[in-house]
Amino acid sequence: MNKNLLLYFIAAVAATGGLLFGFDTGVINVALPSLRERFHPSPEMEGFIVSAVLFGGMAGPFISGPLTDVLGRKKINIVASLVFVVGSIIAAIAPSVTFLIIGRLFLGLAIGIVASTVPLYLAEIAPTNQRGRLVTFFQFAITLGILLSYVVGYFFADQVDGWRSMFWAGFIPAVALLIGMFFVPESPRWLIGKGRDAEALEVLNRLREPEQALLEVAQTKQIIEDEKHNKGDWRMLFSKRLRIPLFIGIGIFFIQQFSGINAIIYFSTDIFKNVFPDGGTAALATVGVGIINALSTFVAILILDKFGRKQILYTGLIGTAICLATVGLAFYLKDSLSPEIQKIMLVGGVYVYIIFFAISLGPLGWLLISEIYPLKIRGFASSMGSFNHWLFDAGVAYSFPILAATSLGTNGGIFGIYMMVVLLGLLFAKYIVFETKGMSLEEIEKRYN
Ligand code: BGC
Repeated sequence: MNKNLLLYFIAAVAATGGLLFGFDTGVINVALPSLRERFHPSPEMEGFIVSAVLFGGMAGPFISGPLTDVLGRKKINIVASLVFVVGSIIAAIAPSVTFLIIGRLFLGLAIGIVASTVPLYLAEIAPTNQRGRLVTFFQFAITLGILLSYVVGYFFADQVDGWRSMFWAGFIPAVALLIGMFFVPESPRWLIGKGRDAEALEVLNRLREPEQALLEVAQTKQIIEDEKHNKGDWRMLFSKRLRIPLFIGIGIFFIQQFSGINAIIYFSTDIFKNVFPDGGTAALATVGVGIINALSTFVAILILDKFGRKQILYTGLIGTAICLATVGLAFYLKDSLSPEIQKIMLVGGVYVYIIFFAISLGPLGWLLISEIYPLKIRGFASSMGSFNHWLFDAGVAYSFPILAATSLGTNGGIFGIYMMVVLLGLLFAKYIVFETKGMSLEEIEKRYN
């Protein structure tokens, strides 16, 4: 197979993990109405059904953290796909709410694992000049998964027990990931880390020109030699020399999540109901969010290796801040605005926000945690990054409906808070994030010596 084609085949298989991430986080919004009809859950139970995936997501990194560096990038993804398969079946056949929550916990667990292992695998297999693009493939798959869940939800909305069909739909990519994972090679960098140089060279020869393959093996071996005094356990992540990458893993997800992205991804229908009182139009406007998100992420794939990471981050932060201000003002000024203008400010603000998010904060979160950590603890460290993501995600998912019911919801203050976080992100981008475009993983690692 042509070397580039093989690279993209590998990326497509691995990114199926992202598709499941997006699908299983997005599907609950569209599944809830028919779940309510079947189980009549109390509001607390409903909260559990929605957040079970996020809790599972928080637990996943504790499995992938220790195991990614031990089992390898390929085996851990096989484990995750098995968990996806089991979780989808339990959720789809659930005879009770308890079963459903267990199924959703399993799905979350699997998402929590792939969220750190897939970007890392892609970063390790990619040539330096295509690393941004390849990892962004994962983010693109997330957005396709979200869109797919909205579309599937739209089709099965009127079916009795439509939620079962929706969860079954998630079973198909889970099986595809499981089968596909058997056909992709192990990460060459992980193989070298385990002293399996010949196998690594074999993999690289299938993906690169022979001289480049030899060079990459030599560079990775050199890094391992330089680092051999280091035990490479979890304590390393908290050592002084890795302070900046540690902060990046926390900060990028704090800003990504508290920019309010999932207030929109999970609750946009409710938000749009402020200007489209009939639920149908609001639901359709939500499909618009899904489409714009996926299309803009596709653009991100094209631009990520052209511009610097920092440049992209600045653009995204400024753009999202302006949009959040616009949405907030649409609420704050609603009595003095004409309904038409309010609609344009709210829906337009959300849509343009999604564009800026999708080209910057969305892909950059997963990209940065896949490339900034040293090989020895890369699996553990990126898993911790993923944990931060789920923790902050749960924080937003929990607080949004509560805050939306207070005056911060009616006067748009909640979007003002998200805007402040994004503005804080400018300082983070300036003083903490460093440029990684064009640097090989080994060159990045040398920074910490
Ligand atoms: C974030 C998710 C979010 C998605 C939206 C991802 O990068 O991690 O929390 O739902 O982007 O596209």
